[in-house]
Amino acid sequence: THQWRGIIEEYRDRLPVSDTTPVVTLREGGTPLVPAQVLSERTGCEVHLKVEGANPTGSFKDRGMTMAITKAKEEGAKAVICASTGNTSASAAAYAVRAGMVSAVLVPQGKIALGKMGQALVHGAKILQVDGNFDDCLTLARDLSDNYPVALVNSVNPVRIEGQKTASFEIVDMLGDAPDIHVLPVGNAGNITAYWKGYTEYAADGIAKRTPRMWGFQASGSAPIVRGEVVKDPSTIATAIRIGNPASWQYALAARDESGGFIDEVTDREILRAYRLLAAQEGVFVEPASAASVAGLLKAAEQGKVDPGQTIVCTVTGNGLKDPDWAVAGAPQPVTVPVDAATAAERLGLA
Ligand code: F0G
Repeated sequence: THQWRGIIEEYRDRLPVSDTTPVVTLREGGTPLVPAQVLSERTGCEVHLKVEGANPTGSFKDRGMTMAITKAKEEGAKAVICASTGNTSASAAAYAVRAGMVSAVLVPQGKIALGKMGQALVHGAKILQVDGNFDDCLTLARDLSDNYPVALVNSVNPVRIEGQKTASFEIVDMLGDAPDIHVLPVGNAGNITAYWKGYTEYAADGIAKRTPRMWGFQASGSAPIVRGEVVKDPSTIATAIRIGNPASWQYALAARDESGGFIDEVTDREILRAYRLLAAQEGVFVEPASAASVAGLLKAAEQGKVDPGQTIVCTVTGNGLKDPDWAVAGAPQPVTVPVDAATAAERLGLA
């Protein structure tokens, strides 16, 4: 009876729903805010991880999707469509099942992690692999939703942003105020837009006394906002943020500038180093794109941009199980032993 009710019920008065709105939920949100010991030591700050991989489908997308599918149902939609690098499609597919709707997903061929493909498949989505990148998929999804009876549930749908802003509410509710700095990976730039909206709403109503500086990080091979121009052929091992023309580009710039923050890039090598640090030293297994926030924080600290004593929240956006290839790659093969305690003890270094 005391279970977290999902973001719509928990923050109903701050979301565009009415008493008659048919809420479609998997009880998303209410995710852990985990103190990060090693990152705190390294930066001299109080660093927390907002672990969004703990959502029902394993990413932050569920916050936006409960809203998007709820509103689509309220409006009588029978089918929804999205473009995705994987997580949005997994979330859309799951919430569509809850709503009794058909879901269609457009993904860049060969460029989405296996776990995410498995989710879309098992939830019964109609999947098209597009011979193009995410940006091409989004163009196609917009075109289809403009001309056919299918609702678009990408973050260009403003109710997605409304749902995702609740992560900021949870952080302020936990910490008692906004952090000094909030760090996020940036792909299509919906999430940094949403967090900033959440923080500014809470500050405007006096629930938070301040707003944080927003720090966003793109992958170097997919860093249009940092470069100031569209990237035609984006590349990065962090497939979730392999995006060359973010839909919420202008909102991300506004979040950056209004908050006094910045948007920078991190290399794949830096992303993988942060990915391994999170797993091996903080006990938090995330997917590579999620580690871009932490890689960015470490880069900024090395550049002397992080004054000690601050409160910092890094959102880690997706679960490591989404894309386990990177956990296995380069790791030593486990050794095989007979059913023999002496041998096992010796191999484990216990004897
Ligand atoms: N991290 C993960 C794990 C993501 O899946 C995404 C975006 C981002 C970060 C970036 O968030 O786009 O709001 O700036 N994934 C989208 C998808 C594009 O299709 O699943 P953003």
